[in-house]
Amino acid sequence: MCGIVGYTGYRQCTPILLEGLKSLEYRGYDSSGIAVLENDSLHVEKAEGRLAVLADRLQEGVLLPGKTGIGHTRWATHGKPSDENAHPHVSENGKIAVVHNGIIENYRKLKEELIGKGYHFVSDTDTEIFAHLLDYYFRGNILEAIYKMMRKVNGAYALGILCDEMPGTVIAVKKDSPLVVGLGKDENFIASDVPAILKHTRTVFYPEDGEIVILRPDSVEVYGKDGERIEKEVEAVAWDASAAEKGGYPHFMMKEMMEQPRAMADTILPRLAGSVAQPEISGLSEAFLRNVDKIYIVACGSAYHVGVAAKYILEEMTGKNVEPDLASEFRYRVPILTEHSLVIIISQSGETADSIAAMREAKRRGAHVLSIVNVLGSTIAKESDDVLYTWAGPEIAVATTKAYSAQLCAVYVLALYIAEILGTINLEEAERFAAALRALPEKAEELLSEHSKIQYAASRLSSSHNIFFIGRNLEFAAAMEGSLKLKEISYIHSEAYAAGELKHGTISLIEEGTPVVALMTSGALTDKMRSNIREVKARGAFVLALADVDVEIGEEADVVLRIPKTHHLLRTSLAVLPLQLLAYYVALVRGCDIDKPRNLAKSVTVE
Ligand code: G6P
Repeated sequence: MCGIVGYTGYRQCTPILLEGLKSLEYRGYDSSGIAVLENDSLHVEKAEGRLAVLADRLQEGVLLPGKTGIGHTRWATHGKPSDENAHPHVSENGKIAVVHNGIIENYRKLKEELIGKGYHFVSDTDTEIFAHLLDYYFRGNILEAIYKMMRKVNGAYALGILCDEMPGTVIAVKKDSPLVVGLGKDENFIASDVPAILKHTRTVFYPEDGEIVILRPDSVEVYGKDGERIEKEVEAVAWDASAAEKGGYPHFMMKEMMEQPRAMADTILPRLAGSVAQPEISGLSEAFLRNVDKIYIVACGSAYHVGVAAKYILEEMTGKNVEPDLASEFRYRVPILTEHSLVIIISQSGETADSIAAMREAKRRGAHVLSIVNVLGSTIAKESDDVLYTWAGPEIAVATTKAYSAQLCAVYVLALYIAEILGTINLEEAERFAAALRALPEKAEELLSEHSKIQYAASRLSSSHNIFFIGRNLEFAAAMEGSLKLKEISYIHSEAYAAGELKHGTISLIEEGTPVVALMTSGALTDKMRSNIREVKARGAFVLALADVDVEIGEEADVVLRIPKTHHLLRTSLAVLPLQLLAYYVALVRGCDIDKPRNLAKSVTVE
């Protein structure tokens, strides 16, 4: 969480920093700030509230002139959102300014030590430590000060630093928090994420933990852990700037929902040769897979819901035992891991703190780690044994849609791949599955073009206080995601239940008019679901059913949305799409800030 940017070059930096921060607001948006180094004097402006408040205060940059600066958009961890707690934080003598993404674990101890040395704190943040600590160690050499600071501080950080003795210079360093360096002509950039600099450059590199980067308009130097100069390999970012813009849609979420067919196709199609899955992974040999005793799928949030769906898919296709787990739980329990365990980490950002910790724990215990990740070069992508990228492109809205869909598609490809290696799928079935996979993006497109019924249902649901989602098996996984989407952007309380579990307590909450969104499967479970729907209907529920085209449904449901036919294991991918649209339209009717829901951040880099 939190986003940082930095610029040094020949242009006025404040408008560039404001624009960069705008594309990082998904990382946090409770306050923001900018520090500019004009010759040898530092000027800082910060504001509680959305970035627009700061931009207004600065008249879009006019009031803070200078060509070297750093900026920050905050998601509060230590100290409430306020002007004082907003970054940048500045040393008492005004010499050093710092923006920080991450969290310092030993900040209480360091704060006491610094107070003992006579420093005064003006904020409740952990970040202010950096400003005072760097000031304490700075004796004319910023590198030395940073090395000493790094030895003292435990925790995660990506820092942008300005020092009034170094005009025209931005200094950056990271540990366990994301940072990208962008290279331009006579100007250079830092940012937490690529979209913040895409308008200016697509030539980037990613510093490693502990590396210090010194940026000037015409040079970028990188120093390693022992002070040695390091040459970095630069990369060209494939995304263009328009990928991170709304492109005519009112919200990023709508744009990203509509991009799902493309994200699905890009994740699936290059990896299918006929009916044979060919993902670009090399670590899963037949010998290893035969001996796999258990597959753990570890993730957070929506990525965890992909893991729940993956359990049903992988178990049915590969015959292996699969256990989905929340990364925040997995990392603190004692999972039984051996060299015969396969741990699959799913993460859009590749930077989620709990998922990183779970991955490291799994590797430490000897398991093989395969990750499904969207962001190239992210920590999880770099550290896992194998990576299967999702090709969703940059996702800006806090509520994930296209990354979730692309993750599911990566799971389908992986399941087919493992099943083909193990021989747990026959040729005919593989062909049927591959054909259904190829057709999936088109069916998604069809489903995403129908909004009117969903808008009607949204208007019926928008004044509810509680909404329940029910489904069985894979539809239960889709129900979990639908429920999360709804609550995170519309602020209506909602719960997802395995339909058979409802009568063990929760049905007591159903009363006249309580909305129940029921996912109707076709096949063996149709009649079970029909009974569950009748049970809630009999207690007055307003039922919105999502049903396959061939499922007969009459009086039981108040509104019926139809899902095109597909392979039974791919149904989650389609069922979730109307649920995303439903959440969107409910939030719209309620006037919520769809792309930036309260209290949330897209990239959760703290525990
Ligand atoms: C946040 C996001 C979710 C996401 C989760 C895990 O809560 O809002 O959309 O599913 O983090 O993030 P990851 O980047 O690891 O997929």
